[in-house]
Amino acid sequence: MKILFAASEIYPLIKTGGLADVAGSLPLALRTKGHDVKLIMPAYRGILEKVAPIQKTINLGNPFGVGDLRILETHIPESDIPIWLVQCQALYEREDGPYVDKNGQDFDDNHLRFCAFSWAAASLANQSEITGWQADILHLNDWQTGFAAAYLESWKNKSVAVVTTVHNLRYNGSFEMHKFASTQLSTELLTMQGMEFYGRFSGLKAGLVYADAITTVSPCYAQEILTPEYGDGLDGILTLLSDKLTGILNGVDYDAWNPAIDPLISQTYDVTSLEQKNLNKQVLLAENNLSTDLSKPLFGVVSRLTEQKGLDLILEALPELLSQDARFVLLGSGDKALEQGFIELQQQYPEQVAIRIGYDENYSHRLQAGLDVLLIPSRFEPCGLTQLYALKYGTLPLVRQTGGLADTVFEGGEKANGFHFQDTTTDALKACLQRCLNAYYQPQIWRQKQINAMHYDYSWETVTDQWITLYESLIQ
Ligand code: ADP
Ligand code: GLC
Repeated sequence: MKILFAASEIYPLIKTGGLADVAGSLPLALRTKGHDVKLIMPAYRGILEKVAPIQKTINLGNPFGVGDLRILETHIPESDIPIWLVQCQALYEREDGPYVDKNGQDFDDNHLRFCAFSWAAASLANQSEITGWQADILHLNDWQTGFAAAYLESWKNKSVAVVTTVHNLRYNGSFEMHKFASTQLSTELLTMQGMEFYGRFSGLKAGLVYADAITTVSPCYAQEILTPEYGDGLDGILTLLSDKLTGILNGVDYDAWNPAIDPLISQTYDVTSLEQKNLNKQVLLAENNLSTDLSKPLFGVVSRLTEQKGLDLILEALPELLSQDARFVLLGSGDKALEQGFIELQQQYPEQVAIRIGYDENYSHRLQAGLDVLLIPSRFEPCGLTQLYALKYGTLPLVRQTGGLADTVFEGGEKANGFHFQDTTTDALKACLQRCLNAYYQPQIWRQKQINAMHYDYSWETVTDQWITLYESLIQ
């Protein structure tokens, strides 16, 4: 099959969260199974330095009146996978992140930036005369690419099957109606069964209603989003579309996330040499000037700091945990109030708490290797990758039971590999932390959970066939 995989972030070129990890690894797994997969992403500033020399440039003209859109054909050196970069100076040449400026504000022209990107993806997938390559499947990811399904719908000449994957329903990519004219989309699409969304127009909703199949990144989240609690205003339309909705769990790239071969950690180890994990804990404590008493537990977080992740609960629960000799390290950035809250906690407990505000891929590996427990008290979690990484590193995840966390972390029984709680309250989190502390001081129980955790196989290998079956069902 020929598959065009469209995403607004792809590791190792650019990453703000798990979408990049998935876009950097699922296409590779599909290639390994013999499929012809190409990627497409905007040519943000700095990207050209990270890809191989451009092999070919295709000019798509100036469809949005903001400058020429060009397709740069190249590949990602690390994986050798082909990629089309959509270049348009006025839209993508910015110093800031892919979606927001230095102050964390969404770019005012994001509708145009991602309509142009989506338009290019739809054009290349659907019109083989542009490149000589006709896609069977156009695989869209989140709102930034959802507009592609709308272009195909409005052109009325669709010759490619469209799959839309929802990584996060909270970001619906909706914009004020007065911006619609600049999208070049037909106003016929602005209905309640179409891409209209509470008086606005939404890229994500377009991706849902005009796709041939919708997936989300865990089976549990696929159920949850049909309810008002988790549906973010889209549960009604998703219920109508539920015949074409499935949940396929994300996989892990174990070439990048594996303590046995990870070049970014101090000491490699595997399930047969778990005692070596302690050296990583020691280095992590030392680099943060925390007491290096290895007998006391080390808790931590690697996360975007947003309401989704439930980290406010941690701020409230931590003092009780710290009073019992635990230590805590955090790597994250985002919400300013949360950042400030954690910095104050560090000031209050300088010997037990170390906070690093920022984004640091290397440090995130050292945390996964050095922690005893990774905390993920998310209010909702479509899949979650950090708990999957933690499991592989024998770091036990403590999670709220929702979405992909509920599908992958178990507290009791033969599969026990971590800890979980249900209610989104500080008390429920505190009780769970206490159970976790008790388990920590029972080395046999702890070791068994670590062994269970490390034996899980969440590689793409195990889910790629589900993707292939889905794609095939759409092109028959
Ligand atoms: P989400 O996509 O909602 O942020 P995931 O758990 O799916 O959550 O993926 C998060 C990814 O981003 C993981 O690869 C995680 O290690 C990484 N990550 C999050 N915050 C940071 C940070 N501050 N520094 C480095 N990596 C981070
Ligand atoms: C989103 C979700 C996260 C998921 C990731 C990759 O950012 O918040 O749960 O793991 O996408 O699918």
